[in-house]
Amino acid sequence: MVSPRNFLLKRSDRETEAFLINKAGKHYAYLNLCRHWSVGLDFEDNDFFFRGWGMAYLQNHGAIYYPASGECASGPCGGASLYRVPLLEKEGALYAVLDQIDWGD
Ligand code: FES
Repeated sequence: MVSPRNFLLKRSDRETEAFLINKAGKHYAYLNLCRHWSVGLDFEDNDFFFRGWGMAYLQNHGAIYYPASGECASGPCGGASLYRVPLLEKEGALYAVLDQIDWGD
């Protein structure tokens, strides 16, 4: 598992933080927003993983999400899924497809 990376998504009126995961050579990206409370999954320390399970783990109340689907595996996020950031890979670079994001607003 490659360490996740935070990045910023810019909209006309604000910036939203997201994170990129590389699991088994495949990239996944999500808004850095828990589905329990709208707070970041990491405490701004870029630490997203419960290494024992290779799962995205929220330090706040212990919600655990599947990296590939973003679905809540356990915790107070109860069945919800992280807001996915669709990715486009072009010439070895990854691009977020902004108009396909559910911003959760
Ligand atoms: S804020 Fe995410 S589990 Fe509570």
